Amino acid sequence: MRERLRIAFVGHADHGKSTLIGRLLHDTGSPPEDKVEAMEAMWNQRDMPFELAFVLNAFQAEQDQAVAIDEAHVCFRSGTRDYLIVDVPGHRELVRTMVSGAAFCDAGVLVIDAEEGVRQQTRRGAYLLHLLGVGQLIVAVSKMDRIDFDAERFASVEADIGAYLAALGTEPWQVVPIAAHDGDNVSQPSPRTAWYEGPILLDALDALPSCEASDARDALPFRMPVQGVYHFDERRIIAGRIETGRVSVGDRILFSPSNKTAHVSGIEVWNVRAPLTEAAAGRSIGLTLNEQPVVERGETVSHVERPPIETDVFRARLFWLGHTPLRPGRRCTLRLGTAAVDVEVQSIDRVLDPDEPEGREDGAAPAEVPRDGIAEVILRSRAMLALDAFTANPRTGRFVLADENEIAGGGLISMEGYPDQRALITRRSSNVAIVNHGVSRAARARRNRHAGGVIWLTGFSGAGKSTLAIAAEDHLFHKGYQVYALDGDNVRRGLGATLGFSPEDRAENIRRVGEVAALFADAGFIVLTAFISPYRSDRERARAAAERVSPRGFHEVYVRAPLEVCEARDPQGLYLRARAGEIADFTGVSAPYEPPDRPELTVDTGDRPVEQSLQVLIDHIERYFALVGEAASEE
Ligand code: ADX
Repeated sequence: MRERLRIAFVGHADHGKSTLIGRLLHDTGSPPEDKVEAMEAMWNQRDMPFELAFVLNAFQAEQDQAVAIDEAHVCFRSGTRDYLIVDVPGHRELVRTMVSGAAFCDAGVLVIDAEEGVRQQTRRGAYLLHLLGVGQLIVAVSKMDRIDFDAERFASVEADIGAYLAALGTEPWQVVPIAAHDGDNVSQPSPRTAWYEGPILLDALDALPSCEASDARDALPFRMPVQGVYHFDERRIIAGRIETGRVSVGDRILFSPSNKTAHVSGIEVWNVRAPLTEAAAGRSIGLTLNEQPVVERGETVSHVERPPIETDVFRARLFWLGHTPLRPGRRCTLRLGTAAVDVEVQSIDRVLDPDEPEGREDGAAPAEVPRDGIAEVILRSRAMLALDAFTANPRTGRFVLADENEIAGGGLISMEGYPDQRALITRRSSNVAIVNHGVSRAARARRNRHAGGVIWLTGFSGAGKSTLAIAAEDHLFHKGYQVYALDGDNVRRGLGATLGFSPEDRAENIRRVGEVAALFADAGFIVLTAFISPYRSDRERARAAAERVSPRGFHEVYVRAPLEVCEARDPQGLYLRARAGEIADFTGVSAPYEPPDRPELTVDTGDRPVEQSLQVLIDHIERYFALVGEAASEE
């Protein structure tokens, strides 16, 4: 099978993009027969190059709505491979086409008018391609005939776009001077650019390495979003299209996020009599299984050994196309593979500006993403999602946001700063029975004169969690409470000694502490925990563990102080070292902190003496865990 590359053509509206596409189709003899004549007639009218756009648009009517691309009409072939041209009217459509999965491009051709040079739309096009992960870019400097094939002018355009791409951290694969109207350097070398030593456009395209080509997709881990589960006679068939990787009969597969496993007993393909023993990326198949786990549309099938990430929160590079600006708290439907789930925009970290690719640092989180804006946002769902980071798997690492069934945006997934939660929710222990205590919780509470519970302090390092926890422990103990403080720095010497500060290690640290705190609460203690605990999902798991013991026994306390204040305090000099790059993944500096959504209590420590904050905390605890009856004995 011939290899096929998808190429996005972008550029300012009048910079000659359509003429170039027309020229490529023409020179490679690719346009549909009946259109050739009309096109050639048009071609002969030298002064009407834009009419060409008309014809081409007619070829591509389907693309306007970002519906499936009618591939037959926009293909051309070179000596070595086939090309599919993705030429959409504007940048919105480009984003739609790419992130909705209608067409993901392997490379881009950026067309720049030699006379006009780099314009805002040129930068925007280059920027979008870069953000969309299209790493390979060929620049065609067009209409060279208009500037008499001036080498100097070409060099200056080349330098301009080179500087812009360098700011993005990339460089063009090739910059080619062309005159599409006459065909210079498109499919034939031009005698009018003797000074140019590089390849002609078609050769530059042919020299592009293939990345999304089928062999590359095959090499990625096996991923198949479940489209549906069908019953035929006795068999249950799990249908879907293989996005990446390959699957064979006998493989042990995993469904995510339900975490169910099974063995493949057969691979069915529609319209093929003999069942397959193996199938690869791009194929629509039906799997039959040895076991019959209950699974549904929206899950992702993988091999057990190379599963997708499981998480309920991720970072996204988002292209927002909605009618109104996007603000934190907005709910949308996330379409990921075949799954459609409700998500909330938890925060907007950065709004990106194509004209300032290096970004401006003013520290404050942006309030909104404008229509057609690009931003880095954090998205959160209620249920677990199965996904991949875009850098690990370009096909399963992107998503679409829908608002009332309309595409409102799309983006690429990054897990930077966030943990894969799969390990936290996978139960490995089996055959364990519950042993019941002889001493009841009520009996413990009677002796202690209060119920057990967890007071969970969260906040930046330096916010005052430990100070408050230790002081509250002291105060409550002398009042007669059974109380104990679990402190981050202390616990990390023992229970958490094997863990570092990677997202996964922090999540595991908090899982352990959450379980231990729940045990303390079960033992009748009021336990104060002082951990940064930066992730909401982890704190929610700690809450769930404590609430299994005592339904209203978990109190999340946000110990709040602005990062600048914590950094100024810097009791152990850690912020200083983190800023100097000596400590990686430092919360607030190079790792995220997700403030509580609805904490039971917020204690501000940035602008008041510690005694005042302590009083607020103690009052809260005593209100919920009031001592009842007389003390049996003091100390
Ligand atoms: S948590 O994120 O897993 O909850 P924890 O509260 O246990 O963190 O530990 C935080 C303490 O570890 C900080 O008070 C600080 O003294 C120390 N520390 C060392 N490295 C880091 C880091 N990269 N980020 C945050 N704290 C760190």
